[in-house]
Amino acid sequence: MLIRPFRLGDYSAITRIWQETGLDQSDKESLNDLAQHLAWDSDLVMVAEIEGTVVGVVVGTIDGARAYFYRLAVLPEMQGSGIGRELVEAIEKRFKQRGVNNVLIMVNQSNPEVLPFYLSLGYEVQKYVTLSKKLSS
Ligand SMILES: CC(C)(COP(=O)(O)OP(=O)(O)OC[C@H]1O[C@@H](n2cnc3c(N)ncnc32)[C@H](O)[C@@H]1OP(=O)(O)O)[C@@H](O)C(=O)NCCC(=O)NCCS
Repeated sequence: MLIRPFRLGDYSAITRIWQETGLDQSDKESLNDLAQHLAWDSDLVMVAEIEGTVVGVVVGTIDGARAYFYRLAVLPEMQGSGIGRELVEAIEKRFKQRGVNNVLIMVNQSNPEVLPFYLSLGYEVQKYVTLSKKLSS
């Protein structure tokens, strides 16, 4: 397996992965989201490739001393074979190379089944409540 930075040609493969794994956003929102991340730091959007097929993706970002990653997903039929772990380890390595050691992730409360995965990778549940607001344009 190859873990590498995102290339433009990967777009349809990763949108498919997000659709198939139910990471809920419309195509348009995904495209905007991804375009923004690529503009910020394309090196932190990483994919897992096996025999020329993109099977997993993670989107990372750094904000000062904190790093975040989002939209980690592996094709359903490829899950459970270590790809998610490798993607997380690869993005963590990038963060460390940039001197950032503090990683935050958000897990939707409707997706508790993913928690054992993160716990097995050393993540700990914190006691924050997330609030958000969409600013009108
Ligand atoms: C979460 C996800 C990315 C994990 O990827 P994956 O390739 O299936 O995970 P891995 O095979 O690398 O598993 C890594 C470790 O987590 C453990 N793990 C994974 N899922 C688990 C589960 N449901 N329960 C317990 N442990 C689990 C594995 O045992 C493994 O530990 P090990 O390496 O010590 O054996 C994948 O399941 C996915 O795409 N889910 C749908 C999208 C999603 O919910 N993304 C997260 C958004 S926050």
